[in-house]
Amino acid sequence: MAISRAETARRRQRLLESLPENSLAIVPAAREQLRSRDTYFPFRQDSDFSYLSGFSEPEALLVLMPGRAQGESLLFCRERDAEKELWDGPRMGPEQAVENCGLCDAFPIGDLDDILPGLLEGRDYIYYTMGRFPQLDRRLQHYLSSIDSAPGSSGAPEMVSLDPLLHDLRLFKSAAEIRLMARAAEISAQAHSRAMAACKPGLWEYQLEAELLHTFMANGAREPAYPSIVGGGANALVMHYCSNRAQLKNGDLVLIDAGCEYRGYAADITRTFPVNGRFSGAQKAVYEIVLASQQAAIENIVAGNDWDHPHMASVKVITEGLKDLGLLRGSVDGLIESGAYRRFYMHRVGHWLGMDVHDVGDYKVYGRWRQLEVGMVMTVEPGIYIHSDEAKVPEKFRGIGIRIEDDVALLKGGAQVLSAAAPKTVADIEYLMRSGELVQEALL
Ligand code: GLY
Ligand code: MN
Ligand code: MN
Repeated sequence: MAISRAETARRRQRLLESLPENSLAIVPAAREQLRSRDTYFPFRQDSDFSYLSGFSEPEALLVLMPGRAQGESLLFCRERDAEKELWDGPRMGPEQAVENCGLCDAFPIGDLDDILPGLLEGRDYIYYTMGRFPQLDRRLQHYLSSIDSAPGSSGAPEMVSLDPLLHDLRLFKSAAEIRLMARAAEISAQAHSRAMAACKPGLWEYQLEAELLHTFMANGAREPAYPSIVGGGANALVMHYCSNRAQLKNGDLVLIDAGCEYRGYAADITRTFPVNGRFSGAQKAVYEIVLASQQAAIENIVAGNDWDHPHMASVKVITEGLKDLGLLRGSVDGLIESGAYRRFYMHRVGHWLGMDVHDVGDYKVYGRWRQLEVGMVMTVEPGIYIHSDEAKVPEKFRGIGIRIEDDVALLKGGAQVLSAAAPKTVADIEYLMRSGELVQEALL
């Protein structure tokens, strides 16, 4: 199960068809990133580049030229090098890359300065997104100013951002992509179940993180899609918490926001559960509101609804719930209009999900919320966060942070929750934590 060479070729074809005549698009590979001194982070290919090339090495660059008779897709990549390959493993080299990736032609990356300026010359537009690859930005600017100042030049091509065209393609997932995302979500749901079953007071947050990583890797997902959040008690209120170094206390909740990357596709799941396996009355009361708001949001993931619909559905349920608990006072409409609910629910209900965890694609088109369409995949992740210093809030609610996050694909038959295997009702969570049964099933 992976994205086929034919699918990658279709993606290039679609992009080529959307580019104007006499233009050229440039998509660079990711750069290797230093971790410390001479040690690098594990290499992760750039999503745009991977989407269009399927090529997994650094120091590479894809060039697309609509209508070019000698071939529309060219790759620049590293040459074979026996000495370097002995240390770092095999490199594909240009010839093999043409074969393996179904491209028209490939050249050594070292020849970029000799070949690329000639390809740019005489083009009307260069589609390239400035700002992400500063060295290449400078190099391209140098090429363009040389073209501009050459005797008899009719001027340099105009630079246009590639993002809007390319990211609109990536926003709509194919059947093969949905299958990979469903697998990423399934593995991640198993990981959450395993962490729930392993949880007990006195463990350290990173020990639950270890349970997650074990399930990811044991199932062929080598990396999390983003740093896992394991936040006990009030750490759940820190949106980007990931130090995961505190001890888990009896009576607290723990929030886990974690998902694996499987064959280039992300999952993004959050579950919040009691460290000791039993929700207190106050924890349960807040939890049920978040759960109902998530359900309301999911019900609004319908083709033709706009992107804001699910969010506003979650806002309404949360505002009503907070009012019922006595944490907000006033009319529900007034509390929504004034934004008073944001004291406890300060983020939006979700984001696009795909190769990147916060995936690409515009949320508004010409200033209006985008309509939901079949093929889009998004997270649904409402939350309530009650800070410990909320003096007017009854003490039993202070320090509670709850978020519930699932991954939802909008398919022809309607919204499908890809991450449904991770327990999320109070009864299911308490049952799993008491018996551990689901985890044993999941590990078979
Ligand atoms: N894990 C990042 C997010 O939920 O957006
Ligand atoms: Mn998340
Ligand atoms: Mn998310």
